Amino acid sequence: WHRFLQTVGGVTLVTLGTLGVFYYYAQKDKSPGEQLPHDPSKKTLVVLGSGWGATSLLNSMDTTDYNVIVISPKNYFLFTPLLPSVAVGTLSPRSILQPTRYVTRHKKRQVAVIEASATSVDPIAKTVKFEDTSEIQGLVSTTTVNYDYLVFAVGAEVQTFNIPGVKENACFMKELEDAEHMQRRFLDCLETAAFPGQTPDEISRLLHMVVVGGGPTGVEVSGELHDFLEEDLRSWYPELASNVRITLVEALPSVLPMFSKQLIDYTESTFKEAKIDILTKTMVKEIKEKSVVLQMPDKSVVEVPCGLVVWAAGNKLRKVTQDLMAKFPQAQTNRRGITVDDHLRMVGVPDKSIFAIGDCTATSYAPTAQVASQEGAYLARIIAQLAKRDELAARLKALQETPAVEETKQEIESVQKQITKAEKMRPFHYSHQGSLAYIGSDKAIADLPFFNGNLATGGVATYLFWRSAYLSTLFSPRNRVLVANDWIKVKLFGR
Ligand code: FAD
Ligand code: NAI
Repeated sequence: WHRFLQTVGGVTLVTLGTLGVFYYYAQKDKSPGEQLPHDPSKKTLVVLGSGWGATSLLNSMDTTDYNVIVISPKNYFLFTPLLPSVAVGTLSPRSILQPTRYVTRHKKRQVAVIEASATSVDPIAKTVKFEDTSEIQGLVSTTTVNYDYLVFAVGAEVQTFNIPGVKENACFMKELEDAEHMQRRFLDCLETAAFPGQTPDEISRLLHMVVVGGGPTGVEVSGELHDFLEEDLRSWYPELASNVRITLVEALPSVLPMFSKQLIDYTESTFKEAKIDILTKTMVKEIKEKSVVLQMPDKSVVEVPCGLVVWAAGNKLRKVTQDLMAKFPQAQTNRRGITVDDHLRMVGVPDKSIFAIGDCTATSYAPTAQVASQEGAYLARIIAQLAKRDELAARLKALQETPAVEETKQEIESVQKQITKAEKMRPFHYSHQGSLAYIGSDKAIADLPFFNGNLATGGVATYLFWRSAYLSTLFSPRNRVLVANDWIKVKLFGR
């Protein structure tokens, strides 16, 4: 008994101690302290966007070097890899967002966060015009800000290829509202199918879910829909569940062209087992209110009745990006996005004051979160170096204006050397950490770099790796706790 009580006491003490430390740090995190105010002697750095690129930059940068202003229509960062899980209710929306002010309030110098959309950039006057596009508007909703350096990180928007009916009738999977919209539509299809007196054909139509685009987004959405069906809907809608059909439509000969052949085959066979139909070499030509029009591999056109269409057919540039590129018609000719140099500066801008990162650029890398966040972290180092160079240049100017004595000449030489050193910037180098995707049925696939080669793996163990990789990639402890908690909740109580 004595020993038992000693052990219980010890364990209790350790648990309470751990909880105490956790509580202390959570409280500290919750109420960040005073920050330095903006300094008129510092240059202004304007960051457009609050996504992967911009948030990685803000996380890594030293804000004491600049007066930083962040402008984005969303006042939060969205962890996109877990967005399809929100669409089926596995995760709660709040678990995968991090308020931008959370990041900026933990910085040494204040950062202004403005919820607005940049509408135009004037690279000559060095100004950004922006507009409050939210629901509630004040007396002022459009204004302009000056910048010394601009970081353009506005991402991309959904590509519809102007296919009729896409905007009007399909759900997207890009923003948080898209995932919530899809969830509502999906559940509404089920409830409408359960409405008394519905004909068998109409039930079959309402319960046919079509996902367009066999890229990673389309595959993950299909996998998540299947899990929702198998793990929850079979219990709550037993009379309807067997009628639910999921079809994935892809124009190319296979899904997931960026993954290795072995993993493509694995995904296709997993989908077959899960009764998810894959239609490859099939193009969506139109989306109607109650059907999709498909061009089949033999070029015949068929109209397929369905209740829900999720459109995941890739990205296109935002208008603000196209307008900025149009200001440099000689240098910016790539239709995929902004061309940048080795230091992520927009090519063609005479004073090199605009940097562009992430999905709005056209580089040799895929438009992924991994690339955008590495670019953001790299840019934090570059702009720190620029701040140093600018400070040295100002000192040099002051020295050159003072009467030339021997010490001054020596100091001028030394400052010039330091400037030359500060101007030597390493080019951006992308380090690929691998590609991961969830394919449903508690299985994931991963192409991982391995000793100069590639390790292709898929299955339940990869799924556990997928979960732990994303849990550790989430930017804050708060998000990690919330996501882990949602996963436990779903295992215990369902969606
Ligand atoms: P974003 O993260 O899209 O950020 C753009 C920011 O700009 C947003 O904050 C937006 O609100 C803001 N903005 C928009 N318009 C304006 C404007 N006019 N003015 C100012 N700000 C503006 N990649 C991976 O590597 N792994 C994954 O598992 C993965 N999963 C994904 C899952 C889904 C469902 C989706 C949609 C994408 C996924 N991606 C993944 C891709 C990844 O999300 C993008 O490559 C990444 O978000 C690009 O980062 P970004 O900073 O360029 O753009
Ligand atoms: P995507 O561009 O990768 O795939 C879109 C697919 O839709 C293409 O395969 C295209 O052939 C198909 N398509 C286009 N129009 C069509 C039509 N009319 N009919 C039928 N099919 C049509 O887009 P996605 O999946 O949204 O990904 C965008 C970027 O985000 C990619 O770079 C991707 O790597 C990245 N991403 C990465 C993830 C991961 O690593 N797990 C998850 C999601 C996105």
